[in-house]
Amino acid sequence: MIWNLGSINADNFYYLRHLPKPGETIAAEDFNQGLGGKGANMSVAAARAGTRVMHIGAVGLDGKWAVERLLEYGVETQHIHMINVPTGHANICVAEDGENNIVLFGGANHEVDDRIIGAALSEASPGDFLLMQNETMGQEFAARTAKTLGLRVAYAAAPFEVDVVADVMGDVDLLVLNEGEAADLVQALGQPLDQLPIDDIIVTLGENGCKWVSNKGKSEQSFAAYPVKPVDTTGAGDTFTGYFVAALDRKLAMTDAITLAMQAAALMVTRQGTADVIPDLKEIQDHDFDTGPNA
Ligand code: RIB
Ligand code: NA
Repeated sequence: MIWNLGSINADNFYYLRHLPKPGETIAAEDFNQGLGGKGANMSVAAARAGTRVMHIGAVGLDGKWAVERLLEYGVETQHIHMINVPTGHANICVAEDGENNIVLFGGANHEVDDRIIGAALSEASPGDFLLMQNETMGQEFAARTAKTLGLRVAYAAAPFEVDVVADVMGDVDLLVLNEGEAADLVQALGQPLDQLPIDDIIVTLGENGCKWVSNKGKSEQSFAAYPVKPVDTTGAGDTFTGYFVAALDRKLAMTDAITLAMQAAALMVTRQGTADVIPDLKEIQDHDFDTGPNA
C-alpha cells in the first residue's frame, strides 16, 4: 500500500499557439478545467496501476469535488482534510508543441501539518510506501516518521527545492528527479548522484528515456523512451512516478517497474489534461508501443 502525502489542485488549462512572453497578452485557443496537483496525479496513477493508495492532504471548502473525483478514481481519501482555505490551483499554459509553464497557488496544500501526517501514518504497516513531492508541507516529519515505522520512502523532488531535498535525504530510499532537477541538485550539493545516501535514484530524461542510478548495486542503467508525438507533457512525470512506485509496491522488479512507468508516461504525453486522463493498466497493455508516434 502507498501513503501519498501530496497536493490536490484545480488545474486550469489554457491551450495557446505559443507560451506568453513577458508583457504579452494572448488569447487561448481552448480552455479546460480538471483535477491535478502533483500529489493527486501520482495517487491516481498509482490507483490506475492497480495498487492501494491512501492520499494524505487538504482541500478547501470549495474542494469537495476534488475529493469525490479521487474516490471515483479508486484513491482512498479518509486522510484528506477539508479546511477553510481555498483549494490549491494551477494555471497551466500549454503551447502547440506540448511545452508548458505553470503558475501554482498552494492554498490548502500548505496547511497540511505534522498532526495530520502523524495520524495517517500511524495506520500504516511496515513495508508500505510513503510517497511525497514538494507541493505540501511536512516532508521531513513524514519521512522520519515513515522510516521509524518501517515504511519505504519514495520522493519526487518536484517542484525542486534544494532545502527540502537536503532535509529528507537521509530518510529517502527512492528519489525521482527530472533532468533539470538532477542538475540543480548536483550543483547545489556539490556531489554526484552516486555519492548520495539514497539507494535508488531515477532521472527522467523526457524523450531520451530515463536513467536508474543504483547506489546499493553501484551500477547505472539507461532506458530508451517509447516514441510518441507530444500533445501535452503536463502530468507525464507524475504519471511515471505514480506508476513506478505502484509497480514496486506490487513487487515488480525494478527494471519492469521502470518499463511500465515509461509506457504510462508515454501515453500520458499524448493526452491533454492531468489526473483525469491518466491511463489505466489495460490501456497500456492494449497499446502497441513499438509502432512509433501516437500508434
Ligand atoms: O505536474 C503537473 C502538476 O503540477 C499539475 O497537475 C499542477 O497542478 C501542478 O501541480
Ligand atoms: Na498530459
